[in-house]
This record gives sequence, C-alpha cells and structure tokens, in this order.
Amino acid sequence: MGLVIALNKGRIFEECLPLLAACKIQPSDDPKKSRKLIFDSVSGGHKIIVARSADVPTYVENGVADVGITGKDTILEYGDDMTFYERLDLKIGACRMMTAGPVGVVEPEQGIRVASKFVNIARKHYQSQSKQVSIVKLSGALEIAPLLGLSDCIVDIVDTGNTLKANGLEARETICDISTRLIVNRASMKTKFDAVQLLIQQLEEAINTNEAGDIA
Ligand code: PRP
Repeated sequence: MGLVIALNKGRIFEECLPLLAACKIQPSDDPKKSRKLIFDSVSGGHKIIVARSADVPTYVENGVADVGITGKDTILEYGDDMTFYERLDLKIGACRMMTAGPVGVVEPEQGIRVASKFVNIARKHYQSQSKQVSIVKLSGALEIAPLLGLSDCIVDIVDTGNTLKANGLEARETICDISTRLIVNRASMKTKFDAVQLLIQQLEEAINTNEAGDIA
C-alpha cells in the first residue's frame, strides 16, 4: 500500500533522498529541476510531498500525509499535545538547540529578552529555570537580534558554530540535541501498518549503511 510521505524542504530533503532511494522510494521527476511540490514515486505507489518544516507535523497530524520527516526542533516547537508518533531517529542533520549571546556579555538574571523562531522551546527552557523572559519571534537570521540591541540573547540551532562566531556571539547553554526524525500519523499506523513498518525497517537498514559511510 502506498504512503504519502511529507518531507521538510531544504537540507533535510536533500539528505533524505539517498535514504529513501535505498528504500526503493524515488521521486518520478528530479526534485532539483522541478518546481513540483508533490511527486509520485517511481514504484510502490508512494507520494512525496515537499513541505515547509513547520507544516510537516500539521500534514501528518491531519492525516493528509501518513508519515513525515522533519527535525526534532520542528517537532518540539510544534508542542506537547501532538497527536502523531515519533518513530525513528534518522541520525542525519545532527545539531544542538542552544542559547547564545554576545561574547563576554553577562545575561541579566531576570527579564531576559530572547529572540528566537523557536518561541515554545525558548519559553519552556527559561520556565524550567524559573526565569522571567520576554520573547521576540523572528523568522531567521536570529544572530542579528543581539547585535542590534533587540534582545539579550537568542535560542537557535547551532551546528558548526561558525554563524555565531562570525557575528560576535558565543554559545551558552545546550537545550537539547537535534536530529531528523520520522513521524507517523496515528490512524496510518493502524490502517497502513505493513507499509509503515516496512518503511521503518528499510530506513533503519539505510541509516546503518549511511553511518558506515556507504550512502552518498
Ligand atoms: C541555521 C541556524 C543558524 C545556523 C547555524 O540557520 O539558525 O543560523 O544554521 O549553523 P552553524 O552553527 O553551522 O553556523 P539556517 O541556515 O537554517 O537559516 P536561518 O538563520 O534563516 O534559520
């Protein structure tokens, strides 16, 4: 039975294609050349949706996609009352969710101004420390905010740390580790059990091969 698979566009999409190809799931057109956002698979009767990161959980929760592949950051930001299953760590896109601020500047104890696009993650983090914060929501390029005096610090994804460094910021606390995850719609877990299980099993094999460095 074919699955509708929602993929996070951008880096995750590109890193997932070889893993899906190893599961014999390949888009019928070349996604790099096509502006299409829904692709049929060459075989297996699957459909591949290319979605904005924050929309992947929405598609899966609403059942328009059976499974979705997106970052743990997106899943955490989506909230605690999610009604889908997180079933697999694809072990790609590894990075950290961190707080960061200007090098050598001490953060105020209370009333911290935090800029982030991950407002739920940021709020929860500071709440867990009983710190009062005001959160400014931005859509990206968060590093600008402390430089312009809009915030004392940021909550953002850190991979190499180069963006922080280039903008005079330093990493402070690690909130959590992030990587790419497979999520599954609750109803699809029952109605398409065999197809979902096969995908999970094939992805696990592909991930193990990937870790061994055998998939480009
Ligand atoms: C992400 C993140 C940082 C950067 C971290 O941004 O928000 O800005 O990557 O990577 P680094 O530690 O390797 O420098 P992205 O490129 O996704 O764009 P955005 O800033 O618009 O979110």
